[in-house]
Amino acid sequence: MSTQQVPTITLNNGTTIPQLGLGVWQAEDDETEAIVRYALADAGYRHIDTAAAYGNEAGVGRGIASSGVPREDIFVTTKLWNADQGFDPALRAFDTSLDKLGLDYVDLYLIHWPLQNNERLLRTWDALEKIAESGRAKAIGVCNFEPQHLQVLVDRGGSLPAVDQVELHPNLPQQAIRAAAAEHGIAVESWSPLGGTSGSGWGRHSKPNTLLTDPVLQSIGERHGKSVAQVIIRWHLQNALIVIPKSVHEERVAQNIDVFDFELSATDLAEIAKLDDGSRVGFHPDEMNLGAPE
Ligand code: A2P
Repeated sequence: MSTQQVPTITLNNGTTIPQLGLGVWQAEDDETEAIVRYALADAGYRHIDTAAAYGNEAGVGRGIASSGVPREDIFVTTKLWNADQGFDPALRAFDTSLDKLGLDYVDLYLIHWPLQNNERLLRTWDALEKIAESGRAKAIGVCNFEPQHLQVLVDRGGSLPAVDQVELHPNLPQQAIRAAAAEHGIAVESWSPLGGTSGSGWGRHSKPNTLLTDPVLQSIGERHGKSVAQVIIRWHLQNALIVIPKSVHEERVAQNIDVFDFELSATDLAEIAKLDDGSRVGFHPDEMNLGAPE
């Protein structure tokens, strides 16, 4: 795998992000170190996506350090946990994340969930703007923002998020969020791009992930000599989405980046479009208040 094959997307602040990266949600800290090192040193990844809440920022940092890949060649994202929303708490949480990562900057810092308090959300965004001005985050953005949350930041004026990272896969293509994001030059990143890590789903109205055994995707994969995971990743790429499939297994990490030697046809894409049933594996943002400050 040659790193150059992964396309980059230019974000609204002029920085570039590799369109495909490694996600590490639900990977243990030591497991994370090993898979990040493998992804960078052996599989050609140049983009790692973690979060304070994943408990593995230190593992990501050790994996980067031992990979031998220069820091400036790697795009690193981390996220502000709910409990740390607010101006001062966000600044402190960012320092803690940098310490754990062992880095002096991240490429992208994201608010993990919008929660249900827009006034606090605006103070949190003020803190992220300050962090961006200091150069310690090259870009800032959000996760799980519905169009109305994006509108809160649009109405505020000032900088807009570079990305909105949301649950997105063929069952949940998130057209409304993508349309709102496109209107404001915000790139969309897909979390749980393969349908997630949890067999049973973890949100209040979530359902088990059936994408990896879906017969439509299986037959498309057979036509191309590719796995279902590779078909789904290709679907994200061809939809101009940034995609961060998670795996802790080397052969899957290698497989998930081996997606630049085939293309889904218009017929394939039309078949995949029929899988949209609006189902999600995680929480709807309106229901998520885990860890929120009092
Ligand atoms: P594992 O880490 O054990 O490999 P997501 O949609 O959040 O990226 O979830 C990916 C889920 O699918 C994880 O549970 C991961 O498990 C599994 N997975 C990742 N890549 C592949 C693959 N190429 N084939 C099958 N399963 C995969």
